[in-house]
Formats: sequence, C-alpha cells, structure tokens
Amino acid sequence: MKIFIDTANIDMIKEVNSWGILDGVTTNPSLIAKEKTDLRTCVKKISEIVDGPISAEAISMDAEAMVKEGRSLSKIHPNINVKLPMCIEAMKATNVLASEGIAVNMTLIFSPQQALLAAKAGARYVSPFVGRLDDIGQVGSEMLAQIVAVFRNYDFDTEIIAASIRHPVHAFEAAALGCDIATIPYDVLKKMVAHPKTDEGIKLFLADHEKSKK
Ligand code: E4P
Repeated sequence: MKIFIDTANIDMIKEVNSWGILDGVTTNPSLIAKEKTDLRTCVKKISEIVDGPISAEAISMDAEAMVKEGRSLSKIHPNINVKLPMCIEAMKATNVLASEGIAVNMTLIFSPQQALLAAKAGARYVSPFVGRLDDIGQVGSEMLAQIVAVFRNYDFDTEIIAASIRHPVHAFEAAALGCDIATIPYDVLKKMVAHPKTDEGIKLFLADHEKSKK
C-alpha cells in the first residue's frame, strides 16, 4: 500500500519524507487554512520536497469553473492532481479533465455507489472518508471493503485512497483490504511506528549493554 501524508504542514512532510516511506501528499482547504498559507504556494513547496502525487483541492462548484481551476492547478507541477468533491458537476469536470490527461482525485466519497460513478467518470483516485463515517455511527471500513470489492470486479484503473484515517487501526484495515493508498495524518503515522514492547526492548538492550561494559 502506498502511503500519503494528509497535511499541508511543510515540516511534517519533510520529516516523514526523510523516513523513506512517503509516496505522496493530500491537502484540503481546511488543512491549508490551518497552516495559514495559500494553496498554490503550499503545493508548489510540497512538489519541491516529495516526488509523488500531490492533491490540490478546487473550490469551484460548477463544472466549467472546476475545469478552469483544475487546468490551472495542474500547471503548478506535473505531480499535482485535482481534488474535486463528489457531485454531478465534479463528474462532468472529471470527464473533461481526464480527457486532457489531468488526474482527478474525487474526494468526500461515502458510498460504493459514489466511488463507482467517480471511477466511471474518469477519476484517477477516489477518496473514501473512513473516520467521518465512523463519526456518524456507520462503519467506515465496511464502506472501504465494498469499494475494494466493486473495483476488483471491474478492474478499474482508479486507485482507492483510504482517507479520513484517524488511528493506526484504520491504516491497518486499509492495508488488509488491499486499498492502493492510505492518506494518513502525521500523528497517526508516528503512532504506527511506536510499540510499547519495542520501547521496553530498546531500554532493556541499552541497560544490558551498559552492564556488560562494567
Ligand atoms: C482526504 O484527502 C482528506 O484530506 C482527509 O483525509 C480528511 O480527513 P478528516 O476527516 O480527518 O478531516
């Protein structure tokens, strides 16, 4: 499974990139606002750090404007893909952008039906939001499993990005189900590295090493 980081924070991106595990980056308007930056400056900076797909979300709400915004965002760097929120206008825009070779990441996906239509419209990626479904008492990982099953049936080229990952179990579920990508926040990535028995083991080995010197 490819691992993307879900942030617009440049220091976090640099840090995780240095771990040798980073395949791409996703941003959204809320993450951009949190960093008090603007989308174009931010994704340009990211493209200088990470050699992989970078999602930049359009804020237009009609197809014509989405296409215009998407074309402009895609010119920032060849690795930029255009994030569009799932709706009919976004499907129309995806149809046009895909025909021009511009990759679309259809975001805010909450059902296998939405994912199926996004893929058929030509989306390069679909982003099902696992955590936000859990938030309303539904099981996000079940939706992921349904999307994986549908895409396998028809051998779509569209890649599934498990999004809205809130904890390491979500990341594990995405990998176990065979999602192509998980986009994961920095704090969750750090939690995935850690294990109390690893920390305990390191402490013990270092203590024994000290003892053996005496
Ligand atoms: C996906 O690309 C989104 O940026 C993200 O995963 C949303 O996560 P949240 O529900 O934790 O805001």
